[in-house]
Amino acid sequence: MTDHVAIEGVIKRFGPLTVLDGVSLSLPKGEFLTLLGPSGCGKTTLLRIIAGFLQQDRGHVRVGGRVIDPEPPHRRDFGMVFQHYAVFPHMSVFDNVAYGLRARGVESGEIARKVASALARVRLADYAQRFPPQLSGGQKQRVGLARAIVIEPELLLMDEPLSNLDAKLRIEMRQEIRLLQRELGITTIYVTHDQEEALAVSDRIAVLERGHLLQIDVPRRIYEDPAHLFVADFIGGANKLAATAEDGAVRLAAGPVVRARAAVAAGTALTVTLRIEDLRLAPEGPDWLRLSARVVLASYLGARQRLACTLSDGSTIEADLDPAAGLPDPGGAIDLWFSPVKARIFTAADGRRVG
Ligand SMILES: Nc1ncnc2c1ncn2[C@@H]1O[C@H](COP(=O)(O)OP(=O)(O)OP(=O)(O)O)[C@@H](O)[C@H]1O
Ligand SMILES: [Mg+2]
Repeated sequence: MTDHVAIEGVIKRFGPLTVLDGVSLSLPKGEFLTLLGPSGCGKTTLLRIIAGFLQQDRGHVRVGGRVIDPEPPHRRDFGMVFQHYAVFPHMSVFDNVAYGLRARGVESGEIARKVASALARVRLADYAQRFPPQLSGGQKQRVGLARAIVIEPELLLMDEPLSNLDAKLRIEMRQEIRLLQRELGITTIYVTHDQEEALAVSDRIAVLERGHLLQIDVPRRIYEDPAHLFVADFIGGANKLAATAEDGAVRLAAGPVVRARAAVAAGTALTVTLRIEDLRLAPEGPDWLRLSARVVLASYLGARQRLACTLSDGSTIEADLDPAAGLPDPGGAIDLWFSPVKARIFTAADGRRVG
């Protein structure tokens, strides 16, 4: 597979602050890649560099093998959708979508045809003559999307396009965006700090933390096989339990030995993660391990119930359990069981994966 877009060793500083610290990644044509990470990790900065609104201090952006660093944004032919509805309020929906085509000198019959087709794709065919103030938030974002795709961009860049929408509409729109992207086959870089959104829409996810790319992989591996403690912690609910490497074992402070062999020197402080959905009230195999816990709070959440417990070493743990099991009483003692294959092991000092 040849790379359509490549980011090579990009460094960006704002004064003393290094916001991107040597980020490299690449995408094949047609891929939907999501940049995921907490607020301030550098997602928007990277997207703005790709778009050409910001110049990196080091490194290159390549499209189709060609370095595009010197090219201004309007020469890059990328579609962009932003968090804030970047639609012109005084222009009709039609004129908003036609804007990029007119700027490119496309002839008017062709404009009419392309705008109609783009509006149909985002389900706004009947709204061409409306003005943005007469539209809902979701509709405004669809206008933004139509405006981005109508120019048939080489690359589609989206920066938290759904964050101003309510939860239900966000889920609806993310599915629409994904379907549209597949249909058109546009290489897409999508920015979000919403981990569920990233898991749901992406071909691959790139997890950023403070300007460093920690992992880039398909959603399932990001979730099940995190390369770094930060990734395990940021995506999905992960319990973090203190552990120590012993001579030939990894022992939790709360009791059981989770690995017969440690990949680090004896005495190394470790953090073991266990997903909240991987805990049970009874063992499901001969090798399952037991944690003695005391219930602090049991919350009924409809499809599941969430227990917050303390363990013998004073640490806290959360478990999502089948609500059919009945809610245990706060203060009561229970056993929580897990399969050792579900445990992920990291060094406590720098979050490196070691098992
Ligand atoms: N023009 C600028 N001048 C100085 N610092 C900046 C500038 N733009 C961004 N920063 C800083 O760079 C860091 C990364 O910002 P960026 O906007 O890329 O984060 P982000 O990952 O998009 O966060 P969010 O999820 O909140 O949008 C932040 O610490 C931010 O304060
Ligand atoms: Mg941002």
